[in-house]
Amino acid sequence: GPYDPEAAFEETIARDQRIEPRDWMPDAYRATLVRQIAQHAHSEIIGMQPEGEWITRAPSLRRKAILFAKVQDEAGHGLYLYSAAETLGADRADLTRRLIDGRQKYSSIFNYPTRTFADVGVIGWFVDGAAICNQVPLCRTSYGPYGRAMVRVCKEESFHQRQGYELLLTMMRGTDEQRAMVQDAVDRWWWPSLMMFGPPDDDSPNSARSMAWGIKRHSNDQLRQRFVDMTVPQAEKLGVTLPDPELRWNEERGHHDFGTPDWEELKRVVSGDGPCNTERIARRRAAHEEGAWVREAAAAYAAKQAVRARE
Ligand code: 3HC
Repeated sequence: GPYDPEAAFEETIARDQRIEPRDWMPDAYRATLVRQIAQHAHSEIIGMQPEGEWITRAPSLRRKAILFAKVQDEAGHGLYLYSAAETLGADRADLTRRLIDGRQKYSSIFNYPTRTFADVGVIGWFVDGAAICNQVPLCRTSYGPYGRAMVRVCKEESFHQRQGYELLLTMMRGTDEQRAMVQDAVDRWWWPSLMMFGPPDDDSPNSARSMAWGIKRHSNDQLRQRFVDMTVPQAEKLGVTLPDPELRWNEERGHHDFGTPDWEELKRVVSGDGPCNTERIARRRAAHEEGAWVREAAAAYAAKQAVRARE
């Protein structure tokens, strides 16, 4: 019979194949992808701030160069993801406006302060480690451009995690004061890192549909568990204690049992009431306003080029 775009969409999803920009897709599929990809991009861009504060204060040229490269990578990840959102008809300037006006979210984890240089190591170890747990399955997400962007992002994330862990190994071989700095950073970043994976599955309004459409490949709790299981042996090797008295290996489950994150804290931070939300958005707004002349100049130049090309 006649070509039925809706049946074609369902068939493609059922066969675990890719939806591409020009394929027909339900409006709700498009909308939830713009939502997730835009907020993923916002997270990368805001995520430059906590570490960026330490570029000028890095303890050596080597540490400065590594940190600088990592922050630049995050800017690039943001640009990949805004481009992926644009393939769905989103407008980058509109998305930036929504972030600055608080109408779109970014990851809660970037609303916590970076108090010492050990935070740079723990962010690499926990935050980029969590990002890897979350982003590797996203390489197989049903929307083509998003999955392909994730393949490139994941290649750089493993460097981000390794440099962080290596920095901590160095500090743990240093003085008692350095070891205390590492443990202090671990204590401050452990629970917020578990919250990166989102609310518990029974309080996750987007998960059911996201998984039915092959956008999300594992639930929030499954990826959180994978991150805990991956990180516990690394903490033992490093010689730090994870701040959870309920954390223990459960032989029957073949996973670690662990305590319950403070979901009220996640709700507060997501709704704008975290330690650094105001500062992060103010910094983003200022950068956007200070950069307006560059965007205008580039647009004017492109317009002149277009006229010349037609002469
Ligand atoms: N911070 C901020 N908002 C969060 C959040 C968090 N830690 N966890 C969940 N939320 C929001 C969701 O966006 C959703 O709000 P919305 O409907 O307005 O978008 C609401 O809370 C309910 O959560 P759900 O579980 O129903 O939402 P999702 O199905 O979208 O799952 C997610 C949330 C797991 C973050 C998913 O969106 C996702 O996998 N996103 C892509 C990865 C990503 O954004 N990672 C952010 C970390 S930054 C990063 O990885 C970069 C690296 O360089 C550090």
